[in-house]
Amino acid sequence: MEFGVCYYPEHWPPERWSVDAQMMREAGIRLVRIAEFAWQQMEPAEGHFEWDWLDQAIEVLAAQDLQIILGTPTAAPPAWLSHAYPEILLVDSEGRQRRFGSRRHYCPTQPTYHQHAKRIVGAMVERYAQHPAVVGWQIDNEFGDHETARCYCDACSNQFRTWLTKRYKNIDALNYAWGTDFWSQAYSDWEQIELPNLTITDPNPSQVLDFYRYSSDAYLQFQQFQIDIIRAHDPKIPINTNFMGNFADLNYHDLSNALDLVTWDSYPTGYADVHAWRMYAPGEARPEFAYDVGDPYITGFSHAIMYGLKQAPFWIMEQQCGNINWSSYNEGIRPGTTRLWTWHALASGADAVVYFRWRASLNAQEQYHSGFLRHDASPAQAFEELISMQPEQEQMRSIAAEQLNAEVAILLDYNDLWSVQIQPHRKDFSHMRHLFVYYRALQRLGIPTAIVSPDSDLSQYKLVLAPSLILGDTQRAELLGSYVEDGGSLLLGIRSGFKTPSNRVTDLSLPGVFQPLMNVSVQDWHALSPKAQYPLKSHIAGLNGAATIWAERLESNAAAEDAGIEVLASYAGGPFDGGHALTARSLGLGKALYMGWYPTEDQAVALLAHLAQEADVPRLAELPHGLLAAKRGENTILMNFMDETLSADVQGKHVDVAPRDVQVI
Ligand code: GAL
Ligand code: ZN
Repeated sequence: MEFGVCYYPEHWPPERWSVDAQMMREAGIRLVRIAEFAWQQMEPAEGHFEWDWLDQAIEVLAAQDLQIILGTPTAAPPAWLSHAYPEILLVDSEGRQRRFGSRRHYCPTQPTYHQHAKRIVGAMVERYAQHPAVVGWQIDNEFGDHETARCYCDACSNQFRTWLTKRYKNIDALNYAWGTDFWSQAYSDWEQIELPNLTITDPNPSQVLDFYRYSSDAYLQFQQFQIDIIRAHDPKIPINTNFMGNFADLNYHDLSNALDLVTWDSYPTGYADVHAWRMYAPGEARPEFAYDVGDPYITGFSHAIMYGLKQAPFWIMEQQCGNINWSSYNEGIRPGTTRLWTWHALASGADAVVYFRWRASLNAQEQYHSGFLRHDASPAQAFEELISMQPEQEQMRSIAAEQLNAEVAILLDYNDLWSVQIQPHRKDFSHMRHLFVYYRALQRLGIPTAIVSPDSDLSQYKLVLAPSLILGDTQRAELLGSYVEDGGSLLLGIRSGFKTPSNRVTDLSLPGVFQPLMNVSVQDWHALSPKAQYPLKSHIAGLNGAATIWAERLESNAAAEDAGIEVLASYAGGPFDGGHALTARSLGLGKALYMGWYPTEDQAVALLAHLAQEADVPRLAELPHGLLAAKRGENTILMNFMDETLSADVQGKHVDVAPRDVQVI
């Protein structure tokens, strides 16, 4: 494993650079990411480049054997550009053109913007691609951050229409796909189609889903545009863009396909605070951990999404290593936390951890953000910790050489997620949260879990969880059918197959295209208000209580035994009294299960303990709350996210783990 840091030479006097570079090297740092916001310094006026400072910064870093990841600076178009070409500015869903003065204020499809991006990126690559110290390109910075994934400008309106003509070819096909008979929405000409904002009430959900797809494709194209520029000068240096873990506005499966390397920015305290709404509904019980470590389930879930994109190791391109400046309390972190986060990333599949940032900024928006060095350049606590990790580096490297071998996978599809987001039907129903309940349960059970696209090769997994494949796709149903016949266990859940890929409801009996595979049909589905609880009974140990949030009543065509259906849970009271709630069917060498409600975390624990045992999936350990376990290669890694010592038995050994500490077995 390699250590790295984000560095901003443009923020500091050149005399300081060599001091910083030497300290970096001595602290065990090998990678330095630079320049991703330095457009103004590289091109202070249109077509006028100034490279001396960057040449010099690169030389100073290279002189210490540091390897450089260069960021293309398109996340921060300078003032001269934003003012001379205001058409490049992003327009938000309220129709407001956004201003210069922070960052990400551009539209990714705007042709004028592409011209300028091409000039700066091309010039950078031409100048530095051959430099022996340059080992990576980062495109832009955090596509979609600050709610910029969707732009509502005129260029986007045009591009959206072009995108639709490619997808549907003729307007009748579009009318059919969107179900435009409703409310007189049919189109007779492409020119009539607008963006789905500023409508009186809800816009057409099929149109919205296509707009989300278009918007994700717009970034995909902007990314490809930059890849092509880079590859024109540089055939080989790996290209990435920094993702944001569980961020859901862009289709990371698509974006990562075009990249050489997946990287993401991990800020555990921020994700557990201002972004926690993605993972927990308001009022939902949340687990407690040591106050300054964030929520390791959220962090781990993001790591798992990132690993699953290519089913391969990833990098952390920005790792929090002190307080941040964008959460509610921006708590200071205690000794041991940075190391714990580093180990958590490594155990979850990271090959490199690049920390954010070298030195706390004296200026502007992020002046309250920490770095390895304090504002006055004295080493902050995390810097000491970085040095204290040096003796562990060899062990970390050997672990980083291993793959992850999860035997359980959860399926994530951004189209399904968007469909639910557009019409959740029940307040606070979120696809991401739904997947996260199952993920937390598996973490509690000590079962390593992959999060992958339904289109990936599933043959390596013994158990696959598909909590909600709402957009039923025939080919997908066939693939899942073969997965089961070849010996896999598939748990398919609520709302699956309810819609077609264009976000209209299927006319098949539910779960739509998956019905033949499950051999049960959903006879009734109820969204449940917080007051409603449908009691359940089951023979599975610990699986009890009631269905909450969402419940479906299942029926088999013939009597259950004749249909080859085993009923694993049923309703015991309420409107679905006596109906099946969870069924299983043997098919070929495997098993197809249908899960008829949205489980609580405890219910998911009971169910998955049972299914894991049946599918012969081992648990790494019995874990007390706050102790997490992961496995990379043959190494089992225990990580303590609490303030007291915790222990577990691993491979017949009793292991104590001190607060915020790590043990490798
Ligand atoms: C990230 C961003 C960095 C910096 C950091 C502060 O989201 O990529 O540029 O702003 O947050 O925590
Ligand atoms: Zn736009």
